[in-house]
Amino acid sequence: MNSIAVCFVCLGNICRSPSAEAVMRALVEEAKLADRIVIDSAGTGDWHIGQPPDERAQRAARKRGYDLSNLRGRQVAADDFARFDLFIVMDDANAAALASVCPAQYRDKIRLLMEFAARDDSRVVVDPYFGGDDGFERVLDQCEDACEGLLKALRTQLVA
Ligand code: 4NP
Repeated sequence: MNSIAVCFVCLGNICRSPSAEAVMRALVEEAKLADRIVIDSAGTGDWHIGQPPDERAQRAARKRGYDLSNLRGRQVAADDFARFDLFIVMDDANAAALASVCPAQYRDKIRLLMEFAARDDSRVVVDPYFGGDDGFERVLDQCEDACEGLLKALRTQLVA
């Protein structure tokens, strides 16, 4: 493929998927692939449409050099399924919710983020919303691990 479009998906689009989006964007820019890999994020739910990421997610990310302040929550839209090549979800509930609104021909675009992790063998990125600050650090640790692996996988899909 000449270019690849990836959408990270969680429930609210204010904690996990914006964090993954920012981590992936930094890796893609560092790899000078920003013109080949399109990155976005969205939520399966509609509670936080138009809102900036959770303060705790922003603070944890800022400490590691990621700026989430310009991101705004949005809900997955019907035309996303044709537009994106991959939907990278955080947990099994995200996968099920997305599959339930995704046309059958596009369902194989849905993958769990942690499939791409090399160091952390957990299956999912746990929702940090109702927990403490350590949950947000863990989300970033998992995103950094898995997004490295995701970038490696995408490189193999891009033609030189
Ligand atoms: P996220 O976290 O899915 O990682 O953005 C959540 C944000 C908000 C809610 C749940 C999870 N909520 O219930 O409002």
